[in-house]
Amino acid sequence: SANVHVRLNVNGTHHELDIDPRTTLLDCVRDHLRLTGTKKGCDHGQCGACTVHVDGRRVNSCLSLAATHEGEAITTIEGVGQPGHLHPMQAAFVEHDGFQCGYCTSGQIMSAVALLNEPYGHSDEEVKEAMSGNICRCGAYSNIVSAIQQVRR
Ligand code: FES
Repeated sequence: SANVHVRLNVNGTHHELDIDPRTTLLDCVRDHLRLTGTKKGCDHGQCGACTVHVDGRRVNSCLSLAATHEGEAITTIEGVGQPGHLHPMQAAFVEHDGFQCGYCTSGQIMSAVALLNEPYGHSDEEVKEAMSGNICRCGAYSNIVSAIQQVRR
């Protein structure tokens, strides 16, 4: 189909793109903007590896069309910290070994950062439930919960 002209704000930078209207936000940030920290796991909304923020809310970018996000603030893992400084959640994941292979980590961290603004309870079980959309094949879940708990305290 014919390309569409799309203006996107990603990590505070304005981008003008000509893309196929069927392009997912995931493929857009990875292939068009070369922001490859966001990972493609399942491409079907099942794993959370592709999690980004849209106006501060977590979104599975594989399920969302890039062209629907004009006028919104998109944040990827590359934009979550300040230049030269990890976001506190990134630092906590390092401190608590919240990853093994690292493939799911960007999505885990983006999800965890958004969770800070969601009305979830503070028990380990509630944090686990709130993070249940982010699959870790290595099974680093208890360390991920520890990292999140440190930041929420
Ligand atoms: Fe989007 Fe798995 S790649 S949820």
